[in-house]
Amino acid sequence: MIKCAVIGAGRYGTNIIHAFRQLEQQGIAKLVSICDTNFDVLNSQCKKYNVKGYLDYKEMFEKEKIDAVAIATPDHLHRDIAVYALNSGKHILVEKPMDVTVEGCLEMIKAAEKNNVLIQVDFHKRYDPYHQQLCKDVRSGKFGTIEYGYVHMEDRIEVPAVWFSSWAQFSSPVWFLGVHFIDLVRWCLQSNGKYVFATGSRMKLTKMGIDTYDSISAKVVFENGVSVTFDTCWILPEKFEAIVNQSIRFVGTEGIIECDTQDRGTRLCSTKNGMETYNLGFILETQDRYGNTVYKGYGIESIADFVYNIQHLKNGGSFENLKKYAISAFAEDGLEATRIATAIHRSLDTKEIVHI
Ligand SMILES: NC(=O)c1ccc[n+]([C@@H]2O[C@H](COP(=O)([O-])OP(=O)(O)OC[C@H]3O[C@@H](n4cnc5c(N)ncnc54)[C@H](O)[C@@H]3O)[C@@H](O)[C@H]2O)c1
Repeated sequence: MIKCAVIGAGRYGTNIIHAFRQLEQQGIAKLVSICDTNFDVLNSQCKKYNVKGYLDYKEMFEKEKIDAVAIATPDHLHRDIAVYALNSGKHILVEKPMDVTVEGCLEMIKAAEKNNVLIQVDFHKRYDPYHQQLCKDVRSGKFGTIEYGYVHMEDRIEVPAVWFSSWAQFSSPVWFLGVHFIDLVRWCLQSNGKYVFATGSRMKLTKMGIDTYDSISAKVVFENGVSVTFDTCWILPEKFEAIVNQSIRFVGTEGIIECDTQDRGTRLCSTKNGMETYNLGFILETQDRYGNTVYKGYGIESIADFVYNIQHLKNGGSFENLKKYAISAFAEDGLEATRIATAIHRSLDTKEIVHI
């Protein structure tokens, strides 16, 4: 049994708790404890999930036997916790982005290598079955040589303005949203970013006292020559039919593929909620035959995959095998996504093309 903990038990940490708890029911993992610096959050999560809680992760590591830890603190607060966990000999699943600095990612990688532990980054877009097929088709040459691509990922304004207004100014549409698709595109193209040019707007959120970009439009040219535009924003109206609007497309010498991962074909309208669309492939809440709540979907699969990878290593499996066969995003993937995202922010600052 892999002994797990969660650091940062807020909105997304809750999803990780669900995933670990399910693996506990299957006898694969045990959720040993959770940690959050916010007393009220910690208290309510401990009660809800009947699990031990700590305000300080260092104390948690001292007192509990833990193999693996998931880090779901705000985007700019992953680094120190990750490095400490790695130096304490824990495997880590770090929420995207791995870190908001290249130096932070490199420090984590050094600590992981020194302690012979795993870094996995929760880039769950890789686990969406439509993306897996898209990636397979792109790599197989079905569309000939890819010439260009386009991505958009946009959140409703409540995400920066309500969900985490306290730390949105330390993040951006690229850090919070863009890195998901930056990783997916890198994974499909099997190529790293070469240079970028980006423009951005700060109109709405700054007026609301949240000092960050509303939207960022970035052109990334990859080492294999493919250019991909990433349009990201987090100011869609509250009345938009889904919390996230997103899609990806590639055009090649022999074809085109377009994947709308927001409107998957089911639209509804109710007096209570107005227009809605479902993205049930991400997280679907359902029940097992005993009436227990079960969560399914690629948002859960990517977390479970981390535990399965550790199990593989514990059973004598090699990291080389994981790198060769698993669809997981590891440290190098997190680092390369961060390299592209930092170059985008540098281009926003300098208004120039930035080479990576
Ligand atoms: N994979 C995804 O689709 C996805 C979706 C949403 C968020 N995220 C990522 O998850 C992370 C958390 O986002 P969220 O929406 O859950 O934010 P949140 O604000 O709801 O939760 C973050 C929690 O971390 C706690 N925290 C802060 N510093 C801490 C510390 N030093 N030790 C312990 N706890 C600490 C806060 O008190 C808070 O409860 C972010 O990096 C975000 O980008 C990923």
